[in-house]
Amino acid sequence: MDSTPTPFLAGRTALVTGAASGIGRACALAFAAAGAHVHAVDLNAEAVKAVAAEAGGTAHVVDLSSADAIEGLPAEVDIVVNNAGLQHVAPIEAFPPERFALIHRVMLEAPFRIVRRTLPAMYAQGWGRIVNISSVHGLRASAYKAAYVSAKHGLEGLSKVIALEGAPHGVTSNCVNPGYVRTPLVEGQIADQARAHGVSEDEVVSRVLLERSAIKRLLEPEEVASAALWLCGPGSDGVTGISLPLDGGWTAH
Ligand SMILES: NC(=O)c1ccc[n+]([C@@H]2O[C@H](COP(=O)([O-])OP(=O)(O)OC[C@H]3O[C@@H](n4cnc5c(N)ncnc54)[C@H](O)[C@@H]3O)[C@@H](O)[C@H]2O)c1
Repeated sequence: MDSTPTPFLAGRTALVTGAASGIGRACALAFAAAGAHVHAVDLNAEAVKAVAAEAGGTAHVVDLSSADAIEGLPAEVDIVVNNAGLQHVAPIEAFPPERFALIHRVMLEAPFRIVRRTLPAMYAQGWGRIVNISSVHGLRASAYKAAYVSAKHGLEGLSKVIALEGAPHGVTSNCVNPGYVRTPLVEGQIADQARAHGVSEDEVVSRVLLERSAIKRLLEPEEVASAALWLCGPGSDGVTGISLPLDGGWTAH
């Protein structure tokens, strides 16, 4: 039997932000494997060029905190995956305001600006897919993550507004809400916490990160990519405005 996946996105273009690493890289490769031409966007020039080459797509070296730079991205794409993100962990009273603003620019304002630019072409053709890589932190809070949690909660609201406005034009918008995923973003946090608490990295994963998760393992980036891909594939046309937790049962509490 032929195990090659059906290229159901052949002829489609997908713009994936934060494509140089982790979940974004997995999305770029999964969307390319499904037949899409991938526009891979990231500020890490070397890594995004490597991913674009692997995906047979196009690299765009762009700092998404810059509104002007976003204006240089393609406006005619069929799919947008808003994924680029960064973390900063500090109590609110010590949280640097400029860091808070940067996180909101990259994780909330940039998705708004990208969607604002790309919706007209989607509306004109009567089909489009917006996938927002939110987080369990779009649905729940954790201490010391004021910027990240508030940006993700904002992204949840933005996604729902796009869903309502896009529906008459064949455009869907949804969030994917992962718990902890094995990526450089999380590996950095594990190492920091192990050092800070004087415990092993395994203990940080099982006792701290996965405390609220019923399934006691980190997700892999490819698992998040397959949910994002499903939201753009056959069978999910009626799905819009949702938040899809991939959180090992965290939000079941
Ligand atoms: N890893 C997790 O456990 C996890 C869980 C839930 C949600 N998420 C979300 O998934 C997304 C991807 O996270 P990841 O874990 O793959 O992280 P990652 O650090 O591996 O990748 C993030 C990418 O975003 C890029 N990026 C950051 N700032 C940018 C900017 N200003 N302009 C352009 N690119 C920029 C980085 O260069 C990097 O390539 C983020 O939105 C994150 O919040 C991650």
